Amino acid sequence: MAFGRSARVEMEEKKRGGFSSKIGFVMAAASSAVGLGNLWRFPYLAADYGGGVFLLSYMLLAASFGFAMLVAEIGIGRMTRLSAVAAFRKLDRRFHFCGILGLLIPALITPYYSVIGGWVTKYIAVYATGADSAAAQNAFFGAYVSKTGEPIFWFLVFIILSGVVVLLGVDKGIERLSTILMPILLLLAAGIAVYTVTRPGAGAGIAYYLTPDFSKMNGKTILAALGQLFYSLSLAMGIMVTYGSYMRREDRIETSAFQITFFDSLVAFLAGLMIVPAVYIFSGGDESAMKAGPGLMFVTLPKVFHSFAGGRIVGLAFFALAFFAAITSSVSLVETVVSNVMDLLHWKRKPATVFMILWCIVLGIPSSLGFGIWDSVRILGFDILDFMDFLTNTLMMPILAFFTCVLVGFVLKPEKIIAEAQACGARFRTKRFFAFIIKWIAPVGIIAIMASFLAASFGWMNW
Ligand code: PFF
Repeated sequence: MAFGRSARVEMEEKKRGGFSSKIGFVMAAASSAVGLGNLWRFPYLAADYGGGVFLLSYMLLAASFGFAMLVAEIGIGRMTRLSAVAAFRKLDRRFHFCGILGLLIPALITPYYSVIGGWVTKYIAVYATGADSAAAQNAFFGAYVSKTGEPIFWFLVFIILSGVVVLLGVDKGIERLSTILMPILLLLAAGIAVYTVTRPGAGAGIAYYLTPDFSKMNGKTILAALGQLFYSLSLAMGIMVTYGSYMRREDRIETSAFQITFFDSLVAFLAGLMIVPAVYIFSGGDESAMKAGPGLMFVTLPKVFHSFAGGRIVGLAFFALAFFAAITSSVSLVETVVSNVMDLLHWKRKPATVFMILWCIVLGIPSSLGFGIWDSVRILGFDILDFMDFLTNTLMMPILAFFTCVLVGFVLKPEKIIAEAQACGARFRTKRFFAFIIKWIAPVGIIAIMASFLAASFGWMNW
């Protein structure tokens, strides 16, 4: 038996199920973090916010904020061995609402995330069947997402696949899938990045991406990087609490959090390296092409791939990579809801998963139709998918992140999490740094993101 593990803890772990090894936990948590946020959102933000300065701000924030928030969330999960709702309630009844947010957020995100996952799945089919020249046309993406049946079909394929993995369980489904896909994903990302940086004329694009131009550094860049960090590390959505609840007591929280942050940042960095210079060459360095925003991955990239020799294969590899990243993230979102339902209602895994998939289907179909026959439906001026994204990412996640810091920093006190991280004699070298960030730096940063995003969303500020 491992050092310091009581028979009771062992029994509890057995009953609840969990990751079978430290590497399994890190792979699963990292593959939750590595998702569309890295491949789709990070490159367009980096391109838009001045390349190098954004990259630098992001990396510094990941190593401080990101790391500390991860330790806090994993610590809460492992300490209570419960998913978000029950965990927050157990720690302090006044923070019960945080747990509820940790259930609502993934329940609201998964449907629309899977609609985007469905688009990625369709693009694999496009590249696999050699229809890539059609995808390189300006109108292709818009025409596709506004269809009724086909996007719903690919969305269903994507969400049902995620459900099947969750049904197989934490170790046999999630852990196994992540341990297989994560290394493939890293190889694909590195391979495509090498391909783009060796294209003729890529030098100027690489320089744009890697050299920080400090005249472009301002509050907006830092806040955008911070917002992206939460999104990318799967923070403030109940996921890391849930995954922490499945982590073995003898595994080290500090190293795991460090490795998860490292993998996630590495894939974001590589995604930028494969996309930013490619778009740069393609557009001849035109700044407006760099500001393609969310359309970068689905509209600009297919054109870029089409213009290169061997572009079809690279395009196929890219969308396969995006699919692997998206499915493992969607699995973590589904698992978070399923785990809460199992803890709260004492349901078994199977009915809880079926319930969640049906829920996603009911909410995902309107999100998909919002780009087509329901495009006149507007909620606070947003289309349906953007409204769900606004509600979760701009409102609910900062609230949850802020109160998690208050709970850990001032109510429980960081020492509680530190003690959990030091369970079974583990070392926690950065504990002072962790306590300082969680108490003082993170809450202030979160308030700043929330205020500025709200101001921007309602047009009070020129963002
Ligand atoms: N962290 C994952 C990603 O970067 O795609 C998963 C995720 C992020 C899911 C943000 C949902 C979300 F709102």
